[in-house]
Amino acid sequence: MGTLEAQPYDGGSGTVGAPVGRDAVADMKPGTAKLLVVSSAKGGGCKTTTARNLAVIAAHCKLRVATVDLDAQGTLSIWHRLRPPGAPRIEHRVSDIKGSAKPIQAVVKNGGFDLVVVDTPPGIENHAGDVRAIIKLADFVVIPSQPLNSDINSNVDWARSVRRDGTRFAFLLSRTFRNRTAFGEAKQRLIEAGPLCAFDIRDAASVNNSDKAGLGNYEIRGDAVGQDFLGAWSDVARQLGFVVEEV
Ligand SMILES: Nc1ncnc2c1ncn2[C@@H]1O[C@H](COP(=O)(O)OP(=O)(O)OP(=O)(O)O)[C@@H](O)[C@H]1O
Ligand SMILES: [Mg+2]
Repeated sequence: MGTLEAQPYDGGSGTVGAPVGRDAVADMKPGTAKLLVVSSAKGGGCKTTTARNLAVIAAHCKLRVATVDLDAQGTLSIWHRLRPPGAPRIEHRVSDIKGSAKPIQAVVKNGGFDLVVVDTPPGIENHAGDVRAIIKLADFVVIPSQPLNSDINSNVDWARSVRRDGTRFAFLLSRTFRNRTAFGEAKQRLIEAGPLCAFDIRDAASVNNSDKAGLGNYEIRGDAVGQDFLGAWSDVARQLGFVVEEV
């Protein structure tokens, strides 16, 4: 049993971030990469932010990580180009969403990665067939959702469709203000509708800063959102089978 130890990147400048978490990780055989898809029914719903932050933490856990950008706007690709040299390596791929299931499958099977994280574009209803094909391939789907009524409605519908396709998923509440009533209400609605990640992601200006710097929030010293994503990752890693349950 190996160990999975997250070690914050110090940027070469002593900006060491979050405390180190220790988990046990399952032994991986070559060619058994896990496919994590981040998707939601709402544009601007924190998909790219989630994809890059989970990918960063996985890379700190010494997993071999690839990100795949299916969004023609290339938001994740722009972020990836800004990654500082020396930061834990994340490979990056770009694909048109049309016909993307096959190339994604090839990356998963033959890319030599432990984890492939796919970021999906807004307007999935315009690419229903392609999105379904990717969802069916996925080992796990994270559905970020802001605590807004219309986002929750759309994402609960979307989760039904993911469930119908037989893929496991969890909602991830994002851009939260924990002291607001809407937070509790959103939690309640999402937990009724399906699995909800035990950690939510707080709203913070540092998310924009990490985007501009090519970092994950985990890589910014003392960043609360980095802690939130670390908690979310622990949950997702277990769902993906990376973490061996300790009894
Ligand atoms: N926890 C957060 N706190 C503050 N701002 C956030 C947070 N999460 C995301 N944002 C901001 O919200 C905006 C939308 O986030 P993001 O790009 O991740 O959404 P998206 O679902 O990928 O959007 P699109 O559908 O356009 O691809 C971005 O400006 C991002 O920086
Ligand atoms: Mg995006």
